[in-house]
Amino acid sequence: MPSNNYTRITTKSLQEMKSKGDKIAMLTAYDHSFAGLVDKSKIDVILVGDSASNVMAGHETTLPITLDQMIYHATSVVRAAKRALVIVDLPFGSYQSDPMEALRSAIRIMKESGAHGVKLEGGDQAKDSIERIIQAGIPVMGHLGLTPQSIYRFGSYNVRAKENLEAKQLLKEIIMLEKIGCFGVLLEKIPASLAEKATKSIKIPTIGIGAGKNVDGQVLVLHDMLGMNKEFSPRFLRRYADLDEIICKAIKQYSKDVKSEKFPNKKEQY
Ligand code: KIV
Repeated sequence: MPSNNYTRITTKSLQEMKSKGDKIAMLTAYDHSFAGLVDKSKIDVILVGDSASNVMAGHETTLPITLDQMIYHATSVVRAAKRALVIVDLPFGSYQSDPMEALRSAIRIMKESGAHGVKLEGGDQAKDSIERIIQAGIPVMGHLGLTPQSIYRFGSYNVRAKENLEAKQLLKEIIMLEKIGCFGVLLEKIPASLAEKATKSIKIPTIGIGAGKNVDGQVLVLHDMLGMNKEFSPRFLRRYADLDEIICKAIKQYSKDVKSEKFPNKKEQY
């Protein structure tokens, strides 16, 4: 079935899309209004990303956002999503200590927000936690390559796995993630040739961001692709709108109208 015909996207639909060669479209959303627009536009997967830490809260990294805050964002998104599969990031500090902590955090997300699955960063070091969450019946998407929660270990947001050793490790880890039952893997900022190889090595879908076109789907941060954040200009980002300009123009006009007493007019009063 072409993806537009699905009435509700599930992890099974994503698997079917990969098998048929239909690309998967994924975007982030963090609030009810935008999630409604994304869902209405037939995006297959909405990611309530921990990028909410940057985009919504103005933090420099994804590290400060809490589990409670992620659940708040996810709850608002789930209420708007009639068709899309909603996946929520486990935030930094909610799964790294041990598998039981990871399971408890994932259960809170599922129970309190009504989301359909979780995503978490890491390969080998996250294996036990991922297994524990999947055993509880919760769908998990892996996240390899650039993993922003480890920014202080990497020291930069540069492309990952350019060297042979790291590329080999990534391929090993992606195969492991498939084997333990992840329903998909997000690949962030890695060479396109490696992403293609990784995609061909597994049967579950890969979703790329800065990973070239030969993956099973693409994800972007909604506010970035709508042109609301002009300071962020990585090579992989395509801007589909200039909302910065549109919104500022509207707000300036409103301000001008208030100050010149053009707003409200007679028709706009009771
Ligand atoms: O949190 C996020 O927005 C992400 C991106 C890679 C899409 O994980």
